[in-house]
Amino acid sequence: MSELSVEVRHLTRRFGEFVAVNDVSFDVSRGEIFGYLGANGAGKSTTIRILCGLLGASEGEARVSGVDVIREPAAVRRSIGYMSQKFSLYLDLTVEENLAFFGGAYGLFGKAFRARRDAVSAALELTAIEGELVGALPGGIKQRVALASAILHQPGIVFLDEPTAGVDPEARRSFWRLIRRLASGGTTVFVTTHYLDEAEYCERLGLMSAGRLAALGTPAELRERFVPGRVLEVHGVSVEQLEGASRGLTLLEVEPFGAALHVRVAKDGPGPEELRRLLVSSGIEGARVAETSSTLEDVFLTVERSALAGGAR
Ligand SMILES: Nc1ncnc2c1ncn2[C@@H]1O[C@H](COP(=O)(O)OP(=O)(O)O)[C@@H](O)[C@H]1O
Ligand SMILES: [Mg+2]
Repeated sequence: MSELSVEVRHLTRRFGEFVAVNDVSFDVSRGEIFGYLGANGAGKSTTIRILCGLLGASEGEARVSGVDVIREPAAVRRSIGYMSQKFSLYLDLTVEENLAFFGGAYGLFGKAFRARRDAVSAALELTAIEGELVGALPGGIKQRVALASAILHQPGIVFLDEPTAGVDPEARRSFWRLIRRLASGGTTVFVTTHYLDEAEYCERLGLMSAGRLAALGTPAELRERFVPGRVLEVHGVSVEQLEGASRGLTLLEVEPFGAALHVRVAKDGPGPEELRRLLVSSGIEGARVAETSSTLEDVFLTVERSALAGGAR
């Protein structure tokens, strides 16, 4: 079996004249947590629907677990788990009835179903609420039920389309613990999210911008490539004071960050102590300077700007 769980080559999807997914190519390894990021309308859900065998492509090729999604969409649908953006659960059925429905859709009945239901319910802490109506459950629990129904048949890969949208921080955190456990058991996790803190949990990221894959790599690689240099966090000065004091130094970027400033300098640029001394020598006392690291938000903004300016990677 291939070590690659997903292989995408020059994938393109048009809706009329509009190009929702534009010449996208990437791979995902088995057991990897792959984060697919991008603003609303960037083309994430369209890509996922093609990879799940739910939507045709206009051009290009894609394989999921070695199966050609264009030629054998039905085989792909049987072998993957998919949690759609709207968690398509039956609100007027109980948790158990939903699991039975989705199990049945994948050919799980009787003893085989009950064994999987019990295992998945235990892993996702649903056992105590199996008899409750899904419609009455809070968002974070609905989300766990949706994940449970997507993994009942033990797929090698699960596609999660914004699984944590609108879910509270505590539930998001515990959801990510489940995702990590799933991946460490060998399941590939292909996940889209709006939350950049969650992107940090992914092993590799693809950043989509207006249908194009604008960046691909580990969080660390993307930071290094798109936001090079070091970042200093400065408290107790204004942008004007900082720029006045640091004349002669090259500051790559100065951005407000809460009550502080994030100052990006070249790799061989000034360290925190040097910048602090410079401020003191310009008459600015009491500033605090510490080294920090660029965030994925910095990466995201840089990629979006360069994609808008017509650049790529
Ligand atoms: N069936 C469709 N018909 C026409 N346009 C569509 C269709 N599905 C998606 N689109 C358009 O394609 C673009 C990408 O959509 P989508 O993949 O859902 O983005 P994302 O999931 O990144 O928010 C959007 O502009 C959306 O309006
Ligand atoms: Mg979407």
